[in-house]
Amino acid sequence: MRARYPSSASGLTFKSLLTVLAVSLLGLGHATANSAPEKTAATALAPAYGIIPRPVSLTPKEGQFTLTRDTALVISDEKIRPAATLFRDLITPATGYILPVTTEAPAGPAIRLSLTKGGDNPEAYQLSVSPTQVSITASGTAGLFYGLQSLRQLLPVEIDSPAVINHTPWTIPAVEIDDAPLYAYRGLHLDVSRSFFDVAFIKRYIDFIALHKMNRFHWHLTDNQGWRMEIKKYPKLTEIGATRPETVIGHTINRDPHYDGAPVTGYYTQDQIREVVAYAAAREITIVPEIDIPGHASAMLAAYPEIGCVAKDFKVKTRFGVFLDNVCPTEEAFAFLDNIFAEMVELFPGPVLHIGGDEILFDQWQDCAPCTEIIKRENLEDYHGLQSYFIKRVEKLVQKHGKQMAGWNEILDGGINPSAIIYSWTGTQAGIEAAQAGHDVIMAPSRHIYFDQYESLNLDEPQSIHSITPLHEVYHYDPMPAELTPEQQKHILGAQGHIWTEYLRSPRRVEYALFPRLSALSEITWTPKDQQSWPDYLTRLDRYFQRLDLMGINASHATYKVYGEPVVTGRTLSLTLKVEGHDHAIRYTLDGSKPTARSPLYTGPLTLDQKVTVRAVGQNITTGALYGDYRQSFEPHKAMGRKITFASAPIVGENAHPQATLIDGLRATDRIFQLAEWSQWYDTDLEAVIDLEKMTAVSEVRLGVEAGQYRRLHPPKSISVMTSADNKTWRTVAQLNEAKIRASGPTVSLPFPAQKARYIKIIATKNDKVLSAQYEKMVPVSIFIDEIIVQ
Ligand code: ACM
Ligand code: ZN
Repeated sequence: MRARYPSSASGLTFKSLLTVLAVSLLGLGHATANSAPEKTAATALAPAYGIIPRPVSLTPKEGQFTLTRDTALVISDEKIRPAATLFRDLITPATGYILPVTTEAPAGPAIRLSLTKGGDNPEAYQLSVSPTQVSITASGTAGLFYGLQSLRQLLPVEIDSPAVINHTPWTIPAVEIDDAPLYAYRGLHLDVSRSFFDVAFIKRYIDFIALHKMNRFHWHLTDNQGWRMEIKKYPKLTEIGATRPETVIGHTINRDPHYDGAPVTGYYTQDQIREVVAYAAAREITIVPEIDIPGHASAMLAAYPEIGCVAKDFKVKTRFGVFLDNVCPTEEAFAFLDNIFAEMVELFPGPVLHIGGDEILFDQWQDCAPCTEIIKRENLEDYHGLQSYFIKRVEKLVQKHGKQMAGWNEILDGGINPSAIIYSWTGTQAGIEAAQAGHDVIMAPSRHIYFDQYESLNLDEPQSIHSITPLHEVYHYDPMPAELTPEQQKHILGAQGHIWTEYLRSPRRVEYALFPRLSALSEITWTPKDQQSWPDYLTRLDRYFQRLDLMGINASHATYKVYGEPVVTGRTLSLTLKVEGHDHAIRYTLDGSKPTARSPLYTGPLTLDQKVTVRAVGQNITTGALYGDYRQSFEPHKAMGRKITFASAPIVGENAHPQATLIDGLRATDRIFQLAEWSQWYDTDLEAVIDLEKMTAVSEVRLGVEAGQYRRLHPPKSISVMTSADNKTWRTVAQLNEAKIRASGPTVSLPFPAQKARYIKIIATKNDKVLSAQYEKMVPVSIFIDEIIVQ
């Protein structure tokens, strides 16, 4: 995977990152709440019919079917027995019933499952429930399996209880459903390299995919931080590559990094992989296995350094990010990969091998004589050409083993055959271009469907990676780019959600990241657009959350947390508070205390012109439960709205303006760190002049320098403040050295004797370079400032 953070370490990474993050205007709050049109066309389903993903067509009927211990599962064909048996076993814990699965038609009420001859989509199904019979018909076992998933969701939510429930009648409301998916590829990915998850959890994860009628599991088996698949010919891949001695604590590019001293070790044996493949197949899920090459390969190179380009003591990485280590494009390395593929195709019956191909740094290729020779021999233009040569050679191997190659969108760089499937992760543009060039495409844009990103900026969120992807953002993402012609649109096979596990170190954290965003993804990949409805989906979430609770799933309730839309005019803040979830009110305080059920009820925008910290929570109006910890600090000051000029301009988020982030009165220190809310100087000092427009009484400057939560930024080395009446003659009025800055906390104060001045100059100097773990060289450290406060 990806660096996806800006690094204090490289201007280059930072630049590409900005395109990836696509940060919101000022980065203050929701990336999308205003921008996406609401999906409201479809009418609401009554709660009892609240299936996710919403079926194509659902017609409620009179009456209900009651499932008893005598209800038989009648199958038309032995091919259906596995699906019927899975359903029987699924409902046994809650009902205590072991329903008979039979080919004999019984006299009484029954659930009939039949394979029909007609129909060209094996994933389509019809489900009909009357008071005397349930019937599911489909032309393929997949359709029957999905029909049973719908039936499961029509039963009372208690059906998903792990223990017998005696007081619930197992009724199913009468209905006619005619259903089929919008996209053929509905995927979910899991990174098992950064964190390792045992087979029991992998099976649970597959159950999650199956519940949502999704059909691909992209298993990211290798990366810099661990190789997780047994390869018999190369035992050191797991003897050496499956263990790292420790892991960085906190954000990987924090200042003064600490390590936990706890080894992470684990891999899947080939027998375990076969077991998982069979488990997935029984749930109509195909596994797309990935080994990530030529970059993201440190674990592999630690085991077999001879396939690298440079003589080096390669190590399984203990931090996260993009690293220099690369597999070399030599014949020896291709033979090595050939042998790995030979074992993989014996394990994974699916048609596709994913070979990664993302985020390649060329340094090691540039340092290697064979690479220079290959470039010359093959008449390649540059290192992008060499990358293209590498990927094309790999594709030949994959094809030799009878599979189709897939890769992340970087494999387009330098040219690649249209036979390769492209996973468009850096955004949607690569997917659009790939489809235009004739590639099949899986849409995977990080902004919309990377579920490892924060779901809200509330301070009670556990640490996640980088940016924010609220539920709303997922639901309103449309995998089909409008730019494509109907012919090109056929290349968009579907979409996939992602769980990268740098900061998701346990099953419970994975569940928190996944739910409920997975359900939104399932709906946008299954349900026709005219049946997608955000308000209706939100009402269906209530029952969905109850079901997740019963399944022991640690779901996030971020959708019930508050987000804010601050607008500053002059020295006044107008703060609109919102909550996505339906039936939720907002309680807030202005004195910095934690809101309770008795705090004031929010009824409309707050107008504030004094220093204040607004705190707010969402409240379920039925249960009274409170959610979240939203904060927005505001401090009116004398530089607000004035002109600011720089000796060298800071890097700011897309759409943002330094004026807006630095002197808008809004503080970013009291929320989850988002790059977009900060101004950054990467390889220059900060030197800014603020024109107060007239002689003004001033006595203090303060700077926000520390993120406050989950990020430890490098503060400046020294700060000085100067005043002037004419922008020519300057007087230094305050100075702080590094020790004092470090001791000050998130906001550094520089008081000075009260005086009148028209111009204020702030100089903050950079700290010393640090050794970058990724780039293995000394790199500058950035200065980050969220606000310059003048009083
Ligand atoms: C990725 O996130 N680098 C595919
Ligand atoms: Zn600000």
